[in-house]
Amino acid sequence: MSSSFFEDDGNWFDEPFGSEESEPSASDAPSLSAPEGVTVVVVDADGATQAEIVNQLGGNIATFGSLPELAARLTGAPVVAVLGPSISDDASLSAASHMLQTHHELGTILIAQELSTSLLQLALRSGVKDVLAAPIDNLQLLEAVDRVGSSLAPVPTTNHTVGSDELYDEFGSSGETGQVITVFSTKGGAGKSMLASNLGVVLAQRSDRPVALVDADLQFGDIAVMLKLAPAHTLVDAVANADRLDEPMLRSLLTTHEPSGLLVMPAPLEPAFADQIGAAEMIQIIEGLRRFCSHVIIDTPAYFNDVVLGMIEMSDDVLLIAGMDIPNIKNVKIGLQTLRLLNTPMEKIRLVLNRANSKVKLDVSEVERTLQVSADSLLPSDVVVPQSINKGIPVVHASPRSGVARALEELANDFISVEGNRKRK
Ligand SMILES: Nc1ncnc2c1ncn2[C@@H]1O[C@H](COP(=O)(O)OP(=O)(O)OP(=O)(O)O)[C@@H](O)[C@H]1O
Ligand SMILES: [Mg+2]
Repeated sequence: MSSSFFEDDGNWFDEPFGSEESEPSASDAPSLSAPEGVTVVVVDADGATQAEIVNQLGGNIATFGSLPELAARLTGAPVVAVLGPSISDDASLSAASHMLQTHHELGTILIAQELSTSLLQLALRSGVKDVLAAPIDNLQLLEAVDRVGSSLAPVPTTNHTVGSDELYDEFGSSGETGQVITVFSTKGGAGKSMLASNLGVVLAQRSDRPVALVDADLQFGDIAVMLKLAPAHTLVDAVANADRLDEPMLRSLLTTHEPSGLLVMPAPLEPAFADQIGAAEMIQIIEGLRRFCSHVIIDTPAYFNDVVLGMIEMSDDVLLIAGMDIPNIKNVKIGLQTLRLLNTPMEKIRLVLNRANSKVKLDVSEVERTLQVSADSLLPSDVVVPQSINKGIPVVHASPRSGVARALEELANDFISVEGNRKRK
């Protein structure tokens, strides 16, 4: 591809980066290999920082002092913008978010001076595809550019149409329907996302078929951040393609957690997009996934809504997670009553008590008596959990020998048998 993505005024870099005609890299560092037709640019208010990043990318790259400057030059061709540290304030990220909503051809990578969880969350929710902490090494940056550049390739289309069983059978790998497991709690912060992500990772490693994790906490989903993913697509894209959700389409929309192979369908990047997704669409997506996955795990928000009810209804198992404090137990009790009122079969509900260890003053048997359900699993409280979350590494990987990781592995065992079939207690 030889055309410029900019309106050509002669001053700008006018070849997509990676084309044969590009200037050779000035350094010995590995050279940039953005996918064909994708242009790489640098945005930062500070000229010296711009130059430093350009040097790290090792090429002839256009630079901009601000996002509006870049916006004025976009023409629809794919662009990866490396945003320097001056773009990490709230106002700039909000501007980035607006730009990314209208310019689907743009993919962004943010270099942060100091990487905090809140900045990572804000950046990813603004639609930034990857966040790197300064000082960055060249390879890390080049890999990020390559990854984001590849994600700008258009979603592959198939000729297949809607939900026909024959089509699903054509693409389904084994014909065996996967097990759907919803992780739910009526209390915020109970540990749903921690449990869902670790369970997904363990099952993905043990299963001989794909395992998917769907973030149905549509407004404030954390799964992508917890697994340090830079998703190219989210549930919003799945809903947009709802009329052709066969295996190839779903696979093209899922983001792989490379260390485990877990396939993740992240929540929308903007809370506002949650409105576009209803229970019917979610059920369609989960039905599509269970046709080729051995397990589909669903993380949820801390309240009942139509999506959560739909997910619970279609699930084989519901992991109801409760923290070991009185407000948690009170809310979970109300949640259980609601589930009973909704005629949810109690056999599919499994109680997981989180932060259950000797330092907590509540007695497990007392909690079980109050809830009238016995606990399937006890997860101890451990500082390695928040530590691992802050690193974006699931605790089963970050601290595999910890008590909490072992308890999570054991819980996952209940969903795996030698044949890959469901195993129930
Ligand atoms: N066993 C544990 N030991 C120590 N900390 C824990 C444990 N389980 C969860 N946490 C901490 O509790 C916090 C909330 O966990 P998590 O985000 O998984 O909860 P959640 O139920 O998904 O919350 P939300 O309702 O906001 O989605 C995290 O900071 C996590 O580190
Ligand atoms: Mg959560």
